[in-house]
Amino acid sequence: MSIKIGLLGFGTVASGIPFLLKENGEKVFAASRDQLEIAKVLVKDDEEKDRLIAAGNDYNFVTNVDEILNDEEIQIVVELMGRIEPARTFITKALEAGKNVVSANKDLIATHGKELIALAQDKGVAFYYEAAVAGGIPILRTLANSLTSDKVTRILGVLNGTSNFMMTKMVDEGWSYEDALKTAQELGYAESDPTNDVEGYDAAYKAVILSQFGFGATIDFDDVSHKGITNISTDDVAVAQELGYVIKLVGDVREVESGISAEVSPTFLPKNHPLASVNDVMNAVFVESIGIGESMYYGPGAGQKPTATSVLADIIRIARRLSDGNVGKPFNEFRRDLPLANPADVKSNYYFALDTPDEKGKILHLSEIFNSEDISFEQVLQQKANGTTARIVVITHAMSKTQLKAVTEKLEAAEDFTVVNTLKVLSN
Ligand code: NAP
Ligand code: HSE
Repeated sequence: MSIKIGLLGFGTVASGIPFLLKENGEKVFAASRDQLEIAKVLVKDDEEKDRLIAAGNDYNFVTNVDEILNDEEIQIVVELMGRIEPARTFITKALEAGKNVVSANKDLIATHGKELIALAQDKGVAFYYEAAVAGGIPILRTLANSLTSDKVTRILGVLNGTSNFMMTKMVDEGWSYEDALKTAQELGYAESDPTNDVEGYDAAYKAVILSQFGFGATIDFDDVSHKGITNISTDDVAVAQELGYVIKLVGDVREVESGISAEVSPTFLPKNHPLASVNDVMNAVFVESIGIGESMYYGPGAGQKPTATSVLADIIRIARRLSDGNVGKPFNEFRRDLPLANPADVKSNYYFALDTPDEKGKILHLSEIFNSEDISFEQVLQQKANGTTARIVVITHAMSKTQLKAVTEKLEAAEDFTVVNTLKVLSN
């Protein structure tokens, strides 16, 4: 007897699974307590099927999902197509048919996870998605199992391999944005629509899932504010360098007095912060908690083999639970009512880059505006004017989101200042 698997999609990640089954067969068999067999693989059309067979892939390729959904011998369906539809429909039908499901589809899980998790529970089957957050880093199972005894207070993460790879290449090696993106796509890091990577959506999806595993919260994707890497200029990077920081796209989920807050934004990280040295396609999840204190989980956040490793780990866990007779246990059992934080409680330091005419009294006026919102400066730098315009850079002490909104409105209304960029700063 073997455990039969139906794969939906045979792209970058899915085609990494056969490698692991072949190269690590003995261990996989021992852990699964059974042979795992890829019984059927769904592809889009006959042309794709012929191409894959000609390339030496010896699988039973099908083009109609019903051949998998109606196959009673298939116990595990592995969705690796990406996007919302038809993945949502196929997973729903698989769960309804009593099949266990594995997915790496954070877009879908962050936006429709609640309904799929409820359906899986209702049907007494598994729905696992370790690979959906940080690719090869086993962070979800770590939060759900190893950190059960601990109380997580904040999770900071470099969560998008593509944008981290691009930023590293652009900043350290002078690559163009276009070359960096093209290479990330060629290496299999980027989503089919890379806008999700560079505009912060992908990291925001992951932040939603982390909020569930770290805090038991059911935060909606729309409640995660997100900003990508496209608005970071070489000037911002140079100033950060000068002031002792590096800029990275960081997901930040934290519990404050009034509730939970989650956001994704390019962030100034002090050079000595552990996340500051996370480069290339690497991801890291930095957890602050009352027991362990600070811990960081580091590894490749994208790519074929790292991601397939997490997917296969889910499959093995299901196989094991099938043999133990407890397959219906939810992936994450920690759930509680946690409201969204009041913006007045969510505090950070901020970097402002402002342009102003190179005339007397401008720093005084700037101080008056910040002072009127009760915000104090930690660092102020005026760069030598380029022509008649001077660039003023300010790093503030901690201020709330409410103060940020109010001061930004005042700066935008002031005729003598142009707000060039505003970024969050993690304090030392
Ligand atoms: P991919 O290379 O684009 O593979 C997806 C495959 O599914 C493609 O071959 C696609 O065909 C096929 N497909 C799409 N719709 C289909 C349908 N209706 N029927 C049959 N096949 C269909 O994507 P991937 O990088 O492997 O990613 C798969 C999933 O893993 C995504 O949810 C992604 O977010 C997640 N993930 C990826 C990584 C990574 O490093 N790549 C890491 C973590 C998580 P076409 O190309 O013809 O559309
Ligand atoms: N496109 C994603 C990334 C894949 O670059 O991180 C992993 O989720």
